Amino acid sequence: MPYAHITGWGMYVPEKVLTNDDLAQMVDTNDEWIRDRTGIRERRIADKNETTASLAMEAATNALRMAKLPPTDLELIIVATSSPEYIFPSTASLVQDGIGATHAGAFDLSAACTGFIFALNMASQAIRSGQIKNALVIGSETLSRIVDWTDRSTCILFGDGAGALVLQANEEPGGVLSAVMRSDGSGGDLLSIPGGGSKHPATAQTVLDGLHFIHMNGNEVFRFATRVMATATKEAIERAGLRLEDVALIVPHQANLRIIQAAARGLKLPIERFVVNVEKYGNTSTASIPIAVCEAAQQGLLQPGDNTVMVGFGAGLTWGSLAVRWTGPFEEAKPIHLRPYRRAARLRSWLRRLWRFIEGLIWGRGKSSSA
Ligand code: ACO
Repeated sequence: MPYAHITGWGMYVPEKVLTNDDLAQMVDTNDEWIRDRTGIRERRIADKNETTASLAMEAATNALRMAKLPPTDLELIIVATSSPEYIFPSTASLVQDGIGATHAGAFDLSAACTGFIFALNMASQAIRSGQIKNALVIGSETLSRIVDWTDRSTCILFGDGAGALVLQANEEPGGVLSAVMRSDGSGGDLLSIPGGGSKHPATAQTVLDGLHFIHMNGNEVFRFATRVMATATKEAIERAGLRLEDVALIVPHQANLRIIQAAARGLKLPIERFVVNVEKYGNTSTASIPIAVCEAAQQGLLQPGDNTVMVGFGAGLTWGSLAVRWTGPFEEAKPIHLRPYRRAARLRSWLRRLWRFIEGLIWGRGKSSSA
């Protein structure tokens, strides 16, 4: 049975930095409160030309370059996101077209901040079953578009960014070793975007009421998060047949430094065993774990053969974890240039639209002549 190895990783964050002091100009808050309660110092904000799909494509291209894998070899793309480009089509379909992954099926996965964990597990299972060989999993967010910038209890928390991992099949044991996926829908109202779906379809009134923004009961979410992070980590480790001391690094969802510290206490581990970058990016929801993985790999904190646990929680309520043995790019892979693929993808996409237009004209003429 093949194993699903992580062979590429890539991230992208917008250039624009929004500091706590900047936020203090917008709402009644201050740097000290935000740092003390969350550990966040600044976050990135997408500019008007950037979207969830465009961020995802940048991260995806970096991950494919690292894995030295042409996009045409991908068979599956999953984008986990809480701020999709549209309700449909999926953001993943836009990414598939944009990067030129002509042989891939693509879909979005919605499990809020836990989405990346669930998506990585789904892609890993598709590889483990032997159905596919190469998959791309992305977490991408433009949360700045769905945050109420007048609500100080939420707008200080979130940021924009994207991270991506490439998974590839190999018979060598390693890669994703175990997974935990859990949900408790009874807590759905604790963290939600109530408007714009079938319950509260978008109307002028839902917009006036701010139902299209993130609504959150911060205290309840905080209590839930501190309860599940340590237990989910332990469960993934046990399911992989490992012990806590076998794990080099834990990559938690970056929501709040105090939640990560509570997880460290729960596991009786020093905070140094956790990747923490929440101070730079805030909570980037599905993107936070892959961005943290990328930074850890770039800093040499993850070496081939190291065991790591990725663990997250989010709206739903959802939570989950994965035990992973780190691999890195396959040795036989050759460096590739991705720019021609992006150019070819743009041309192909344009030609397809043109062809659909011409087809429409032909069909229209056929119908009118048969009438
Ligand atoms: N600046 C200054 N004061 C503030 C701010 C602010 N930005 N926000 C709230 N306050 C005030 C409150 O009004 C309250 O004042 P009061 O005592 O006069 O009523 C006081 O600070 C304390 O507020 P709490 O909400 O009790 O503060 P708490 O210590 O719980 O911190 C926080 C709030 C940071 C939101 C915390 O509850 C938290 O991190 N919760 C988890 C949130 C989270 O992780 N969400 C994402 C989940 S992942 C996903 O799916 C998207």
